[in-house]
Amino acid sequence: FLMMLLWALVGYGLGSIPFGLVLTRLMGLGNLRDIGSGNIGTTNVLRTGSKLAALLTLLLDGGKGAVAVILARMLAGEDAAQLAGLAAFLGHCFPVWLGFKGGKGVATFLGLMLALAWPVGVAACLTWLAGAAITRMSSASALLSALAAPVWALLLGVPQIVALTIALTVIVFWRHSENIARLRAGTEPKIGQK
Ligand code: G3P
Repeated sequence: FLMMLLWALVGYGLGSIPFGLVLTRLMGLGNLRDIGSGNIGTTNVLRTGSKLAALLTLLLDGGKGAVAVILARMLAGEDAAQLAGLAAFLGHCFPVWLGFKGGKGVATFLGLMLALAWPVGVAACLTWLAGAAITRMSSASALLSALAAPVWALLLGVPQIVALTIALTVIVFWRHSENIARLRAGTEPKIGQK
């Protein structure tokens, strides 16, 4: 039990690093909270106009989910890997450093899925890309990808991650409640728009 608690803490600690906020501040791009949706993720970092900052945020927010999974798997096995991935995701969405007001979890979700079961991760990324090609909206693509992920896990023969994936999908939807309201109202901006 103590080992599992440790991996939950390591995952949470990694996940709670708000790379979008850190990078935009370091690069002098202004206060992310006053830009666009005010979110700390890649999509909103792109609204600062810096594609480099957005790309780095995507890689680092995704990377922290992947690192949590890989570290835990190497040192403690598959159950610890799932737990660390979930904890990293929760750390990103609810970081203690930001009064638990974090991001929407999409990059971290994709990163941890790639590390947990790469075919499912690749399928989730491709689903996001297909969604983006069709809708041109980051949130809609994320919701589509999250919805498809448990189905991909089943179809690609990884039933042991379905429960975790469904939990992540539910939280992704919850974190996108403002986006969902804008999507329904037809006011959600396209990728790159303010
Ligand atoms: O990854 C978050 C994205 O789905 C929505 O971000 O800033 O448009 O609310 P944002």
